[in-house]
Amino acid sequence: MVKIAPSILSADFGKLNEEIASIESYSDMIHLDVMDYHFVPNLTFGAPVIACIKTKLPMDCHLMVENPELYLDQLAKIGAYSVTVHFEATNNLNSLVAKIKELGMKASVAINPATVTQNLKDILPFVDMVLVMSVNPGFGGQHFIEIALDKIKELKKMKPDLLIQVDGGINAETAKLCIQAGADILVAGSYIFGAENRQKAIESLKS
Ligand code: DX5
Ligand code: ZN
Repeated sequence: MVKIAPSILSADFGKLNEEIASIESYSDMIHLDVMDYHFVPNLTFGAPVIACIKTKLPMDCHLMVENPELYLDQLAKIGAYSVTVHFEATNNLNSLVAKIKELGMKASVAINPATVTQNLKDILPFVDMVLVMSVNPGFGGQHFIEIALDKIKELKKMKPDLLIQVDGGINAETAKLCIQAGADILVAGSYIFGAENRQKAIESLKS
């Protein structure tokens, strides 16, 4: 069964814990988009805000930042379950992944729409998850870029037991395509938090 990770980027930041409570019982993970205005043209939040989140769900921190290594100690300390770092944001992916695991978190690597899966070949043995971006990172509510579907299939071939997340432009239609391609975790922001009935929206992604 595919897992759902709502992205709080489209939630009301003024009442984050209420927003999270509204989706908690239907979700498998919570997706936290950390942005720094440098790696992406947008700014969100970091560890001090994440530390205030009350949830039983595992927290996956998607780091869309330059110098992601600076964030890891704090995220481990506040109980992040996993950290997703961008292939494009570092020259030293191996030590970054090793550090995440040393700190007791699961390690995940993301690729932008313009990055080919072959770039991940040598890191795959060391990661727990991969995140395929199906939009250019930075904003919610963008259109799904179909090249992501080929990438999911390629990555499944490269490492069959790899957990694959897809992030960006997920709705009931694109979710179906991602599941068919072999995705394990669907990250969705605007489709869930913008829905009148969030439970139904989440269920529609699974069916
Ligand atoms: C975009 C973020 C996504 C975003 C997805 O850079 O990584 O997690 O919240 O938003 P939707 O689901 O609206 O495309
Ligand atoms: Zn994200």
